[in-house]
Amino acid sequence: MSNTPSRTFHVAVVGATGAVGETMLSILAERDFPVGTLSVLASERSAGGQIEYRGRTVVIQDLASFDPAGVDIALFSAGGAISKEYAPRFAAAGAVVIDNSSAFRYEDDVPLVVSEVNPEAASNRPRGIIANPNCSTMQMVVALAPLHRQYGIERINVATYQSVSGGGRSALEELGKQTGQLLNFQQIDPQRFPVQIAFNLIPHIDEFLDNGFTKEEMKLVWETRKILGDDSILVNPTAVRVPVFYGHSEAVAIETRIKVTPEAARELLSRSPGVEVVDERVAGGYPTPVTHASGTDAVYVGRIREDLSHPRGLNLWIVSDNIRKGAALNAVQLAELVAAGG
Ligand code: A2P
Repeated sequence: MSNTPSRTFHVAVVGATGAVGETMLSILAERDFPVGTLSVLASERSAGGQIEYRGRTVVIQDLASFDPAGVDIALFSAGGAISKEYAPRFAAAGAVVIDNSSAFRYEDDVPLVVSEVNPEAASNRPRGIIANPNCSTMQMVVALAPLHRQYGIERINVATYQSVSGGGRSALEELGKQTGQLLNFQQIDPQRFPVQIAFNLIPHIDEFLDNGFTKEEMKLVWETRKILGDDSILVNPTAVRVPVFYGHSEAVAIETRIKVTPEAARELLSRSPGVEVVDERVAGGYPTPVTHASGTDAVYVGRIREDLSHPRGLNLWIVSDNIRKGAALNAVQLAELVAAGG
């Protein structure tokens, strides 16, 4: 942290045993967040278990019987239903809630914040809740916000290639299990995904809506507009689950008001916060989930080239660790903003 506050904070992590919760804890430690008291919360199934945090042993508590009085900052990642029920109670007890679920993202009085894009929005939180965006929107807007500010994005066509870790621990386990079973000529029994995920692609994430899009796809529409503060941006999304463990990828085609060349985009993005340009036109000169975006913090951008079918079109390939920048890292960055008085 650049501006380390002198006080410490009582931090609660809700969903601490999950894929995102666990990473929130490691990022709090890595970034030396000024944690005074740490409360780690999960379901009654995990209560009584222990986790290690910077050499101390912390006992996991049952969220249902936990008293939030005294908590300063609560990081929630236990699903929308848990957030709906418990986040307002933590906020009423005086905590600032940073919520990773979609429970509050579209409410006018809850800011939706990406630390590199609209940090100023975090300070206007009348309900004491700040929403953390969806993972695929998060990485997309980190890369597109600088281009939007300079060249005015009118339309975004995006196809996502989303890793299974976005579905939590059970989804990671299902990919591993099915892969082993299929390589051993055994039958598989899909539980977490509607059809086989190993060696397959599934064009269906979250529920189907009346307009034919999935909710995951509409998150890219709604959240991009809210974060960039521009309801005129058109977004045409397709969201696909792929058999990758960590790291989401996105093939993005933008249409801008002012033409942007690949060279100008590369130059702008290479000095934009949170972005790393990896764009050599040689084998391996581009980011992939495994080579770049597993366990790292940046949003990687490559394959920057003109859209041959549009006079003001630009194509980009955007890759990031969905558990880190897509969820846990941004949540901790928001906690840092709150801690610094923002
Ligand atoms: P638990 O491990 O006790 O089930 P993931 O997204 O990786 O599946 O993780 C979900 C997180 O949400 C886990 O930490 C899980 O805890 C937590 N969780 C699920 N249901 C509840 C609940 N009813 N109360 C509190 N935490 C819950």
